[in-house]
Amino acid sequence: MKVLACIFDLDGVIVDTARYHYLAWKRLAQELGFYFTEKNNERLKGVSRMTSLNILLETGGIKLPEEDKIQLTDKKNTWYKEYISELSPDDILPGAQKFLDKVRKDNLKIGIGSASKNTHLILKNIGLDKFFDSVVDGNKIHRSKPDPEVFLNVADKLNIPPGNCVVFEDAIAGIQAARNGGMACVGIGSDKILHEADLVVKSLKEMTLEKLYSL
Ligand code: G6P
Ligand code: MG
Repeated sequence: MKVLACIFDLDGVIVDTARYHYLAWKRLAQELGFYFTEKNNERLKGVSRMTSLNILLETGGIKLPEEDKIQLTDKKNTWYKEYISELSPDDILPGAQKFLDKVRKDNLKIGIGSASKNTHLILKNIGLDKFFDSVVDGNKIHRSKPDPEVFLNVADKLNIPPGNCVVFEDAIAGIQAARNGGMACVGIGSDKILHEADLVVKSLKEMTLEKLYSL
């Protein structure tokens, strides 16, 4: 394929926020009286806040009315925002800044496609709020990954056909979203978990332009 744009997921790809999401969900589960495992947490990566809560409640065997659910997602988000309030450029994941710079130097377009409604706050805290050519976040989309809406939206804003975009994702739902949108996808993390991606690297530290152009 001819690569013209790179679209990055944010949480767990550019910045180390995935662990804070997990901490906050685990704390909520504990309050509800059950232990939320890291394995179950994989299913929450990349999906919206409310979908995450629904999955969490399902694993705990709990059914609640909508009003209670809104309160619980608000509570989780308050804790999560506390955790991420201290984020700084030091929390950019290993190799991410270097790879972003290489991609920029090679004149490719660069976008962010994240389900998070906290995207802007996070980008600001890590000093990357002016870096990307286009940012589409959870405030602008209607359908959660694995729906391709978020990535198609970024591609559209970048004015690049989906077939020329490569998505970088740490979530199974995100990889499926890329594929559903007709984009190539690099998984960031474990190849056991992310085997649906075209290529898997442990972190962006392992990623090179050669690997990108060989997709
Ligand atoms: C990202 C994360 C998910 C999170 C979602 C919504 O995609 O991977 O774990 O639930 O964003 O984040 P928010 O910050 O809006 O609660
Ligand atoms: Mg992610």
